[in-house]
This record gives sequence, structure tokens and C-alpha cells, in this order.
Amino acid sequence: KMDAYIKNLMAKMTLEEKIGQLNLPSIGFDVTGPILSQGVEEKIEKGLVGGVFNTYTPNAVRKLQELAIKKSRLKIPLLFGYDVIHGHRTIFPIPLGLAATWDLPLIEKTAHAAAVESTADGINWVFSPMVDIARDPRWGRVSEGAGEDTWLGSKIAGAMVRGYQGNNLRSDEAVLACVKHFALYGAVESGRDYNVVDMSMRKMTETYLPPYKAAVDAGVATVMSSFNEINGVPAAANHWLLTDLLRKQWGFNGMVATDYTAIMELSNHGVGDSATVAKKALVAGNDMDMVSEYFLDHLKKLVQEKKLDVSYIDLACRRVLESKYKLGLFDDPYRNISQARADKEIMNAQKLQLALEAARKSMVLLKNDNQVLPLKANQKIAFVGPMIKNQRDLIGNWSAAGDPKKAVTLWDALQKQYPNNEFTYAKGCNVLDDPALIGRLNPHDAQIVADPKSPADLIKDAVDVAKDADVVVAFVGEPFGMSGEAASRSDISLPSNQVELLKALRATGKPVVLVLMNGRPLTLQWENDNMAAILETWYGGTKAGDAIADVLFGKYNPSGKLSMTFPRSVGQIPIYYSAKSTGRPIDEKQKYTSKYLDIPNTPLYAFGHGLSYTTFAYGDVTLNKIAIKNNESLTATINVRNTGKYDGEETVQLYIRDMVGSVTRPMKELKGFQKIFLKAGESKDVTFTISGADLKFYDIDMKFTNEPGDYKVFIGTSSDNVKEADFKLL
Ligand code: IFM
Repeated sequence: KMDAYIKNLMAKMTLEEKIGQLNLPSIGFDVTGPILSQGVEEKIEKGLVGGVFNTYTPNAVRKLQELAIKKSRLKIPLLFGYDVIHGHRTIFPIPLGLAATWDLPLIEKTAHAAAVESTADGINWVFSPMVDIARDPRWGRVSEGAGEDTWLGSKIAGAMVRGYQGNNLRSDEAVLACVKHFALYGAVESGRDYNVVDMSMRKMTETYLPPYKAAVDAGVATVMSSFNEINGVPAAANHWLLTDLLRKQWGFNGMVATDYTAIMELSNHGVGDSATVAKKALVAGNDMDMVSEYFLDHLKKLVQEKKLDVSYIDLACRRVLESKYKLGLFDDPYRNISQARADKEIMNAQKLQLALEAARKSMVLLKNDNQVLPLKANQKIAFVGPMIKNQRDLIGNWSAAGDPKKAVTLWDALQKQYPNNEFTYAKGCNVLDDPALIGRLNPHDAQIVADPKSPADLIKDAVDVAKDADVVVAFVGEPFGMSGEAASRSDISLPSNQVELLKALRATGKPVVLVLMNGRPLTLQWENDNMAAILETWYGGTKAGDAIADVLFGKYNPSGKLSMTFPRSVGQIPIYYSAKSTGRPIDEKQKYTSKYLDIPNTPLYAFGHGLSYTTFAYGDVTLNKIAIKNNESLTATINVRNTGKYDGEETVQLYIRDMVGSVTRPMKELKGFQKIFLKAGESKDVTFTISGADLKFYDIDMKFTNEPGDYKVFIGTSSDNVKEADFKLL
């Protein structure tokens, strides 16, 4: 039915109208590139726009859709895209925080809630999930993805696609998802945004491509090609990537859109003038041109001059129309949008509750000496730091339609939850003091304004309240513009003025609980050595303040686990748990082994790390078989006991090592996890099934297979704290 409908429609379309369907301008706000789309409404009327992004609300969307439906010749409805990255109006923790929940059903629910709010607000296409594997925390966009691990990232990619799209794209609650940024954007050299990617076929196949493939396998409707080049060919002009791999090998049959002005930027990459790059981008496999309007400007002439076969335009146009058809837009271009539905769905109690749950679960307790946490309400507590009353930063970057004024600050939450407690407060320092850095952030991100008090006076106030307290909570971190797109950093420590504050607090001799708000792994060696406890809260979203208060006072026992390694120093980057052995594994007693002279090889906080207020004791791993054939499976069981005073949730992690391969294999690879809840004193046997399929990898001939030999299975609380056992694949 779809084929016939679209064939019939396309038979009526002029070449200009077909090219118009490939045009994706931005109308609204949010300029994240060099230019802003012009004359969009007029172009819609002329049939020269296939979809727009950056417009939402039922009224605004209806107005534009009416232009297409009432004024354009063929009345083809528009797509309405938007950067709904971690919630639409109700903002959930940033994706790196959501990943730290290791809670796939929860992540799926947040994506679904975002889809419901988006559709109620007129949006039918979200530019998410971002599944770029990222192992370089200098890259600001690590905040938008699931972290460093291929297996976990793939599971999260699938969960998000299912959450956004559901199982019926025509439903009022479903949006087209868009997996991005295809591909390998997370591997930009030196962590500098938009930079070059140069990577072996093995590494991309084993490590970086699987999450995109998982999204495709979950039925993702659209793909966004990335800004970066890959081995000399920019992704937006990469036929191998967008056609041979994505469509022919993986069977993707949806639509591909470029990133913002990516076609225009191909000329900066140095692969041709505007007409040449327009042709290259189309022929490579992009269907929609985001903002460049190079398709609009050049494709017709290229066809007329016989430099471009019209079939490429037909193909891309068909894919755009198919996306609209799948959404049911030809039957109802407005998809039941109404202010009444928006009022009912947007930021309702159920979504706020989900935001609270997600924020609580995303928080990672990195350190907790002498059980300084949880705090007791009868303690004298000084709350210090520029993040305590800070609203804007809580919802983080890419919280495009999120309203910071609706975010609950930690201070608000404390006043509400403990009205009778006289907590003391001091700002302690500005979020940033470095004028060069502030200059680079302003005016693009929220204005970072210095306090009228001098830095010395701010610190003095903080020290005064600290001296008078039993315990100090210092809440610091990166303002939201310091992570995310175009926010790479060469130094990923806390801003130096914040460290000054922490040093002054430390000097009081009071225990300091460091609460962090940031969008990437930071280097925290000094903080680890000097702070009594450290709680990573990311940008926790609309309900962040409530969630932080709940965790600090033990109403919620933290359960988050890192999905990205925290290095000791930038010099260790890239650092990730699934490293290989080398021929000279580290040996402290031998000079000529693989190590640094100045620091250990190990990270400060490993992948999978995250403490609880309770303690979990792991027994030994027992296997039901010590050898399996390819078509068999074995079970690995471990007893986990809650040996502390609090009930708590634990994420039991399963890793595998293939000891000998036709190519070298990582020393650990995540292959599973289970989340269990144990009451204080309770214990549980946790069993994993391992089959031949779990042992597959790309062999010396790049065949996805497994190889007989010795394996190790590891089970534990983090990638660096596991019990192990051996088995064989026969
Ligand atoms: O979706 C984003 C992308 O992640 C970065 N460039 C702009 C796009 C649209 O806003």
C-alpha cells in the first residue's frame, strides 16, 4: 500500500518538489552551526521543504503544517524534528547519567516519556539516540552518549529506539528515532570536536559500529550522518558508510539526514566546491540536507547538465515520503496535536516521578570514607558551592525545550524536605573565574556572571560556615556549557577556583562531601585523596535537586555504576577497561614493561565502579560445566550477600576473556549484568548463562565466529573488582 501511494504521489511531483522533500531547514531558535535557515515559510508554501526542526508547541507546529497542507501544491505534510536528547520538557539525567543506571527498562521508559511529550508538542522526529562510543573524556559530547562500552551501548541503543518508536509508528505516542552520529564521531582525534577520525576496520567493526547496528536492528527509522571524516572520507560524503555498510550490509531501509550544515562543511574538509559536495552527499546516501540547502541550490542544475542521475533524487525523495507515510502523516498531518493533549502530557506527575527515579538511579557514589554518607538530619551541615542554588545547569546540555526554571535545586529540595533544619549555606566561589574560559562560553551559553563579592571573600564565607558545622557538603562542577557539543577540554579537572574552595574547606579539618555536577569523567586525584566522600550527580535533570537530597540523606541508597572510566590524569587518555594485554604487561619490578613512570596504569574509578551505603560480599564463581561445545551453554553462579546495614541495589557484572585468539582479545569484555535488590543481611545466588554465541568476535579473517580454547569468566561489582573462573570452548 505504501509503495503504491508513494509511487502515485511521486508521479505528480516536479523535480523541484522532489528536491524540496530533501530540504531540512531549521526554523525557531537554537543555531548550532555557521548559518541560520532563511525564508522557510515561503519555501514551505512552494513545496521546497521536506521537514523542519527547532519548532514545537501545538500552535507553532500547526501553523507551519497548515502552510504545507493548505498552501503547497501537493499538500505533502512536513516532518517536525527536534533535539530531544534526554527528555523533551521533563528533563531526565544526561545520557551518560542515564547509562550509569544500567537500567534498560528505565531508560526505555524515559525515551517513551520523551516521545509522548514530544508528540503532544507537535514533534514527530527526535534526533536521538546518540550512540557514539566515547573513550576520550576531553570530548564534550561524551555527555550525550552511553559511555565507553560496546555491549552496554548497544543494549541502551536498542532500548532507546524501542522507547521512542514503540511498536507502531502511527500511534500518537511514537516518534521517528534518529540514531547518530553515523559514524565513529566519538573517536575524534585528541577529543577535539568535529576533528578527524582515523581508525582500523577491525576497531570500528569490533568496538564502534555495533551500537549503531543495534539501533538498526531495533528498527530505528532514521540515521544522522556525522560531521567527522573517516579514514580520509567525510562521513557525509562516504558511500561505503552510508550505502554499502548501512543499507546493503545492515539492511537499513529508512532515511538518512545529514548533521547541521554538514554538506556545506564538506568544502571545508576539502572534497569539492558546493555543487560537487552536494552531489557527493546525495550519491553517498544522505536523503535530507540539514540547513545547508545545497541540495536545493544545486541538484536540479546537476541533473539538467547531466552530471547527476535523477534516480538518486527519486530514491532519496521516496525515503523521505516513506518516513512520513510510516508516521501516518498522509492520513493525519497534525497527528492529534492539541493544547489539551500537551497540557495533559507535558511535565505531568507521572513523568516527574520518572525523572526523580532516573535521577536517583543515575548518581554514582565514587567514594565514601568512614560512612560519612548518608548524612543525618540532626547533624550541623554546611552546604557550600556555586551549584547549590544553581538552576540552569541542573538540566544540562541538549535540554533544548527544558525549562531550567522548573528544575528543582538542591537548596529548594532541602528546604522542602527538612523545613525545620537550619542548614547553613555559602556560595564559596563563582562557577568559573577564568576570564578566557568565561569568554569562550559567553554569550553562547547561559551568562556566567561573577558574584559582586571577591573570590577571597566568597571563600572566607564558606570557611566560616564550614568551621561551625559537623560536616560540609561542597557542590561544584562544570557549568552546562562546559560539556556537550563544541565543548572539548584539554584539561578535565575541576575549574581551579573551585579547587581553591575545596582546599580551603579541607584545611578546616571538617569532613567534606564533594558533590559533583558535570558532563564527563573528570580527573579527581586530589579530590579523591582529600575529600571524605564523592558523589557524581551528572546533570540530573528537572528533579535533580530532590534526587541529590534523597541520596545525601539516605532516602535513596545510591546504585549507579560508571559507564565510562575516570582517568587519574589526561595523560592516560584514551583509557578504558576493555584494554588489551600488550607483549609486556605492566610489572612494577621490571623497567621494560608497559607503564607510566609517574602514575599507575589503573584509572581512578573504573568502568562499572559505584558504591552503595551498604556493602556486598561476593562468593566464588561456580560453573556447572568447565567445557562447552559451540552449541552448548554453561551457567556461572555467584552468591552475593548484603553485608551492610542498608537495603540496596547492586549491579552484578559479567565479563569474559578469550585467552588465546587468532587476533588479540581484550582482557575483559562485558557480556551481561543483573540488577538485584538485597535487604540488609539478605543474600542471593545470581546465575548467568554463557553460550557459544557470547564468545563470538571478528577473527583474523573478519569472520564473526568463536574459537575453541581457554576462556575466563569474571563476575563482580565493577570491572576492577571481580571473582573469576576458567572454562573451555571445545
Ligand atoms: O542533532 C544535532 C546534532 O547532534 C549536532 N548538530 C546539530 C543537530 C541538530 O540540532
